[in-house]
Amino acid sequence: MSNPSLLVGLLSLLLIPSVSPSDFPFGATFPSIQAEKLIKELNLSPKDAVPTSNGGDESKRIVERGFKIPGLLGSEDVSVKDLGHHAGYYRLSHSYDARMFYFFFESRNSKDDPVVIWLTGGPGCSSELAVFYENGPFKIANNLSLVWNEYGWDKASNLIFVDQPTGTGFSYSSDKRDLRHDEMGVSNDLYDFLQAFFEEHPKFAKNDFYITGESYAGHYIPAFASRVHQGNKAKEGIHINLKGFAIGNGLTDPAIQYKAYTDYALDMGVIKKSDYTRINKILPVCELAIKLCGTSGTTSCLASYLVCNTIFNSIMKIAGKINYYDIRKQCEGSLCYDFSNMEKFLNQKNVTDALGVGGIEFVSCSPSVYQAMLTDWMRNLEAGIPALLEDGVKMLIYAGEYDLICNWLGNSRWVHSMEWSGQQKFVNSPTVSFEVDNKEAGQMKSYGPLTFLKVNDAGHMVPMDQPKAALEMLNSWIGGNLTGSSMKSENMISDM
Ligand SMILES: *[C@@H]1O[C@H](CO)[C@@H](O)[C@H](O)[C@H]1NC(C)=O
Ligand SMILES: *[C@@H]1O[C@H](CO)[C@@H](O)[C@H](O)[C@H]1NC(C)=O
Ligand SMILES: *[C@@H]1O[C@H](CO)[C@@H](O)[C@H](O)[C@H]1NC(C)=O
Repeated sequence: MSNPSLLVGLLSLLLIPSVSPSDFPFGATFPSIQAEKLIKELNLSPKDAVPTSNGGDESKRIVERGFKIPGLLGSEDVSVKDLGHHAGYYRLSHSYDARMFYFFFESRNSKDDPVVIWLTGGPGCSSELAVFYENGPFKIANNLSLVWNEYGWDKASNLIFVDQPTGTGFSYSSDKRDLRHDEMGVSNDLYDFLQAFFEEHPKFAKNDFYITGESYAGHYIPAFASRVHQGNKAKEGIHINLKGFAIGNGLTDPAIQYKAYTDYALDMGVIKKSDYTRINKILPVCELAIKLCGTSGTTSCLASYLVCNTIFNSIMKIAGKINYYDIRKQCEGSLCYDFSNMEKFLNQKNVTDALGVGGIEFVSCSPSVYQAMLTDWMRNLEAGIPALLEDGVKMLIYAGEYDLICNWLGNSRWVHSMEWSGQQKFVNSPTVSFEVDNKEAGQMKSYGPLTFLKVNDAGHMVPMDQPKAALEMLNSWIGGNLTGSSMKSENMISDM
């Protein structure tokens, strides 16, 4: 807060009549406190990585092992080799001392299935949240045994989960300079990782490759996809067979998505028309701030983060105990979800031994990684997408209908307003029904490489809430047949 122009900007905000000091971001607390609150709401412990340097084999970029995870029911007679489950560390090339932890689960169906990488958001939350609660091969039972997930995405793909940026999950560094602050840092690390990964697993390099993830990964993914595409074009390293990328309830184009908060909240009955009118008075300042931030601002991005989150916080002040990842649900006490079994599970010695993570402490969500990415938050990541679509890289944007924080409405709007050669055709395409078991599981729209899907009966974490629909979505999308049924469906998207 030492930057004078930022202070001036914030002070002038206070002069706007509709903003009272108590509406101020996070009740005038700081973003790290906001990050801690967010983490506690998931019943996880806010923790920062302990700087560690465990040496290891410096001659190899990747140190990986096959493992059988302790407590997996029904795996007694299966060999480690047959399971095809790997855990490893990649020593980041462009870092002082960083190691990136990853899981690699070979497909339960066929080794020729595409390779799919998943990125959880935060920023600063571990992808193990997805491994154990969304689309990973197993789920945690209350007694901490693991059961196979019937709808794990490893049923249709060779599936990688990485802990990133450095400081997240089991990824660590002894050097604070390895914290990442923007998508350039994030996407270079991920690209370097992929190169090392395919060098380690050459037989998978010929498979199709897809990037997927959720929430803040709406920032990571477009940057990562562009980085891979650029590497391919420049014939850097191993060619990566990038076919597409998918973002679930992501934050990609903040100018459009922040504007959609009050519309969504009003539509869903979370706020009243009078609240709507009052809160929307903040919009012009927020929009201006985001514009100044653009794709590469710094201080202006931080200012817009503080200004624009006033909108979200004002809605939450009215909404009270509502779970902003799923507005059908209430938070009990400070708890919105309870993912604490994951921490308990991953801190067992037999588990850390099996994974080969040594004494590294598991960080579910890291406040310092979150804070390090603050100037990245409001940047527009939609900007790089048209170039990917023009080159035939597919994009799927999907969103659970009951999520507030990265709601479907804001996502639908940016997808519709994105300028590319197929924009008009996309906008004019009919909304069709996405069917699972002959029942409507969502509504979607597609044209050429672009698909938008609104998922029924789901919040922020679609594969957790609708595991079967999520697997079918992945399967048909990679199979090139996520086209929907011609059955008439209300046109819920195009006129938004
Ligand atoms: C792993 O260790 C925990 C205690 O830390 C124990 O309760 C559990 O049974 C062990 N799991 C297996 C599969 O041995
Ligand atoms: C733990 O829970 C799982 C799933 O509910 C169950 O199948 C298993 O028998 C339980 N194990 C013990 C030791 O109670
Ligand atoms: C759609 O693609 C998936 C994955 O390749 C395949 O399993 C499925 O049979 C396809 N469905 C149709 C109707 O072609």
